[in-house]
Amino acid sequence: MSVKKCACSPLQEHRAKFQPVLPNILKKGPAFVKPKLGKPTKSVADQATVKKIFPNTYGLPAITFVKGNNAALCKKAVRVGVVLSGGQAPGGHNVIGGLLDGLKKANSKNKLFGFLGGPSGIVDNKFIEITPALMQEYRNTGGFDLIQSGRTKIETDEQLAAAKNNLLKNKLDALVVVGGDDSNTNACVIAEYLKQKGVDISVIGVPKTIDGDLKNEHIETSFGFDTATKIYAELVGNIERDMNSARKYWHFVRLMGRSASHITLEVALKTHPNAVLVGEEVLAKKMTLGQVVKNLVDLIVKRAKAGKNYGIVLVPEGLIEFIPEMKELISALNDSLADNEAALTKLSTTAQKKEFILAKLPKKLADLMRSLPDGIASQLMLDRDPHGNVQVSLIETEKLLVEMIKTELSALKKAGKYTGKFSAITHFFGYEGRCGVPSTFDATYTYALGYNAAVLALNKCSGYLSSVRKLTRKAQDWEVGGVPLTMMMNIERRKGKEKPVIKKALVELKGEPFKYLAKNRIAWAEQDLFVFPGPIQFFGPAEVTDITTYTLMLEQGKKIK
Ligand code: FBP
Repeated sequence: MSVKKCACSPLQEHRAKFQPVLPNILKKGPAFVKPKLGKPTKSVADQATVKKIFPNTYGLPAITFVKGNNAALCKKAVRVGVVLSGGQAPGGHNVIGGLLDGLKKANSKNKLFGFLGGPSGIVDNKFIEITPALMQEYRNTGGFDLIQSGRTKIETDEQLAAAKNNLLKNKLDALVVVGGDDSNTNACVIAEYLKQKGVDISVIGVPKTIDGDLKNEHIETSFGFDTATKIYAELVGNIERDMNSARKYWHFVRLMGRSASHITLEVALKTHPNAVLVGEEVLAKKMTLGQVVKNLVDLIVKRAKAGKNYGIVLVPEGLIEFIPEMKELISALNDSLADNEAALTKLSTTAQKKEFILAKLPKKLADLMRSLPDGIASQLMLDRDPHGNVQVSLIETEKLLVEMIKTELSALKKAGKYTGKFSAITHFFGYEGRCGVPSTFDATYTYALGYNAAVLALNKCSGYLSSVRKLTRKAQDWEVGGVPLTMMMNIERRKGKEKPVIKKALVELKGEPFKYLAKNRIAWAEQDLFVFPGPIQFFGPAEVTDITTYTLMLEQGKKIK
């Protein structure tokens, strides 16, 4: 394969030559695999409602690709569109590379088009053709810059009609949506709409999100989680080493992951920090913000008594939504902001908006909101994203915790119960990890996901998510297929309304990754057992370059170091 000369780093030049290993089943190409259909499926919850909303895409059988002659499939040239949707995740370009290669292997006349700027590109009909020459510059690179991304949700009748008309105008046979839970929910809405209108264009999803919360028995992990957590773990390890050298700061690190705490848990498994907050545990134990703070204060006091006025705490960005009283406040705010959208746009300052909303809230929640630092209260009122989610990446929970801890510690100091020093530094790691150079695992996984999406498209499977399984085995032994999007759905409240959405996979408190944390965290809290993972490696021994997440390994019964 010739490597295009580009304005790129030496690593990028070398990495461009990396050819991901395809699962054996896909190696000969789409003409040599056939879909094996499983039993009809049902949604994870709210079956009757989901079925009513998706009459044409509900109940589809799960698909596994097996060896078989499917040459007829490749005779007619097809045109496929691809869109990157939602937050960036390492490996997006390799999904497109795998998709392109799968299509070209089936028939060199097949064409791939990339819609620009996320789903709005479909509505506005903005696209480019992705040729092999163009693709070459982006193989094995991070980012989504080949066609960019966006968070537009295609939901109104006008948007759906425009999307349908543009797909038809461009004579597309299939659309591949690379996205997280919300984007793939939207993919299913489009698949259903096209079927209802009698339009024979397949819609296929690909599981993307660094958050790691789009998973189930058929989707073992979303892509990007591996690389992002390796990048954050490197940074956390570096901080631990700095802290262990200077021994004078407490570091509070907030990590991305909108709802679920998978990222924080994975980074903790790799770095052994002194304290780790897991949102799902906070919710299960119905802990108040005060209790979360008290636990941290107890640890700080204990370590101070041992002469350790330093430490590191990992905080998931979604923590705030798991604290029951905050969850209640956020949910009331969601409804109130949605109900009063028009009135709020007429108010110019955040202070005015806050007063307006406070007057609409029940007294208990208004008092809670008043008790929060001004900055946090304002951050809670920021616009929701188009899918109705609070933008937790903009809420500085780590600073809130530090402020509350300081207040508690000074009270303890006055009472003569604490004599230590508390000097805190806060960090937020999120955007730093979303466009990193994909790890070997992510580069290989995404290539297989994209290639498999091409096979799903050629087989006219609509309403499916590309599924590559048995991921702790060698890549050649991975299994591939499709999982019906409706199978993952339930009904949730968004922007004040009940909506069908793909159910997020939260951290399982009975799962092996959390159990491993629970077993080790007391030792990590008191002793200094830090681990320094260092940067992602692309060259060197396979046990360093090819290793995947500890989460996946523990979930699949493998041992970790
Ligand atoms: P996706 O679910 O779309 O993959 O995005 C996840 C995420 O990276 C979250 O971790 C984070 O809270 C959010 O995106 C930030 O969104 P934005 O990029 O719009 O600031």
